[in-house]
Amino acid sequence: MDGSRNARFQHIEAHRIAGALGAEIAGVDLARDIDDEVLQEIRAALHENLVIFFRDQELTPDRQLAFARRWGEIHLHPFIEGLPEHPEIIEIRKAETDKRNFGGTWHSDQMFAPQPAMGTMLYARQVPEAGGDTMFSNQYLAYETLSDGMRRMLEPLKTVSVGEGGKKYGGKSRREFYADRLTTVKVRDTGDLQTTSAHPLVRTHPETGRKSLYLGSHVQYFEGMTEEESQPLLDFLTRHSTRPEFTCRFAWRTGSLAFWDNRCTQHFAINDYPAGTRLMHRITIRGDTPV
Ligand code: SIN
Repeated sequence: MDGSRNARFQHIEAHRIAGALGAEIAGVDLARDIDDEVLQEIRAALHENLVIFFRDQELTPDRQLAFARRWGEIHLHPFIEGLPEHPEIIEIRKAETDKRNFGGTWHSDQMFAPQPAMGTMLYARQVPEAGGDTMFSNQYLAYETLSDGMRRMLEPLKTVSVGEGGKKYGGKSRREFYADRLTTVKVRDTGDLQTTSAHPLVRTHPETGRKSLYLGSHVQYFEGMTEEESQPLLDFLTRHSTRPEFTCRFAWRTGSLAFWDNRCTQHFAINDYPAGTRLMHRITIRGDTPV
């Protein structure tokens, strides 16, 4: 795709931002109701680019929710409290006093859930003067660039992802892990919700039919193997799946909205703005059982 209006699209423009994935969509005001035809083109752009970005949007929480609902049911985060008036929206705020950021590892959202979020919609309400970009990685490419032998070996494997007390959290509960780091992400008890799940390492996208690696920092080990046995292969796959040529990097401005497909991407929020404040509103869309 070049930088001009894509011939397939009548209503929107899609400008690719990197070779591997990511496109900025122009010609859409998300604060208004979106026609079905326009939505169909946005969906096609998402499938083609895996993550899409809209600039200069003026969205109230209600308008962001209205756009999110066009993609399916809202997936409520099992641990994190939403806004009091809009429980479907999580506020991700990193203030100057917070050392750690939210999402600062390569991951796909909520892999620890039996039906992880299909997509995530993130809207920037306040961004630091510089820094706070998000990186994305194309997991179709990660799969397709492996050798035939490696693909055959990986095909039957399942990963086990853990949401509470996993390696990512140093064995702590998520509440303890975030307590002193992210003052404004409100973590709640999970109750009976399932926070450990096994998923295929190679999954088939239900809409595009393409195969991708399905990986992220919630993965602890391969089903039927120990952590020690799993780690060398996980290390290789983590390095491979986030190779620079599979990625793009998005520099936020206030009013930018990103929507990514968790089924074929990983993402990483860069923590490089110690003196800045970043405030985002996040909504996730319900997904199905990965196969
Ligand atoms: C996330 O991992 O969902 C947050 C990404 C970001 O804040 O850039």
